[in-house]
Amino acid sequence: MKLKSRHLLGLDGMSKEEIALILDTAVSFREILDRPIKKVPPLQGKTVVNLFFESSTRTRISFELAERRLSADVVSFSTAASSVSKGETLKDTARNIEAMKIDMVVIRHPAAGSAHFLSRVVDANVINAGDGGHEHPTQGLLDMYTIWQKFGSLDGLRVCMVGDITHSRVARSNIYGLTTMGAEVSVCGPNTLIPREIEKLGVKVFHRLEDVIPRVDVLNVLRIQLERQKSGLFPSLREYHRFFGVTKEKVAKAPKPITIMHPGPINRDVELSADLADSEHSVILQQVTNGVAIRMAVLYLLGTSN
Ligand code: CP
Repeated sequence: MKLKSRHLLGLDGMSKEEIALILDTAVSFREILDRPIKKVPPLQGKTVVNLFFESSTRTRISFELAERRLSADVVSFSTAASSVSKGETLKDTARNIEAMKIDMVVIRHPAAGSAHFLSRVVDANVINAGDGGHEHPTQGLLDMYTIWQKFGSLDGLRVCMVGDITHSRVARSNIYGLTTMGAEVSVCGPNTLIPREIEKLGVKVFHRLEDVIPRVDVLNVLRIQLERQKSGLFPSLREYHRFFGVTKEKVAKAPKPITIMHPGPINRDVELSADLADSEHSVILQQVTNGVAIRMAVLYLLGTSN
């Protein structure tokens, strides 16, 4: 079986079989990460360019590691050190890079739709590493992989995304992916941070953590984007923490232990208490490790299917 598209632009519209193919493929790459020699040859002779127009720690390093472990030639680009700072457009930047005969492009960009746009103007395979508030598909996949690794199945599992759902590409990719895989997905946050009519995506909405905690297996806690506070979407970080901060005390009221996830970077003691982030219930660092395996799987499936 192959992925239907030459690109990975989002999880919206991806079939259950395609998601399962990526997760299954990642299993063997995850095993390679525990070997003393972590390099395998499938992308030998291919060149991958990482175009990062926005800051990133995990996604950028993870893609670079994944590419190098698949033996690709890797070029990484950041806005500050490029001609974008002289006003060059995304289209011109991408077409000039492609003229140097590259095979795949990984893009992170603050504009929603930038990865789709890029896929229409270049011949290379395009992978979306986060486009504005739209999607972050490899994050959604690595989150699903981490849950699947822990519970053995996604079907019927109860997962709640907590926090700023409106501005979160991570939430959107998780919602598309998890609902396709049969999980029971909910969101929880203040009214101002939950999009209207989100129920149409097949999720339940909660506005009180106390109502969610008794009925979930997993809490995926999202970063509060600190700049949102200035736009008056919630009164203060202290108040946010009081009502929506996920803490050891709050989750201790659950009938059974809840698995804690966070895509990073964490605002410790704002959306998630530091002790819970570092506790045995947290799989946050497993998410990061699994991210390399998922990105290897995606690069492998796209890069070897031409
Ligand atoms: N999870 C995530 O996208 O983190 P970075 O912004 O550090 O890449």
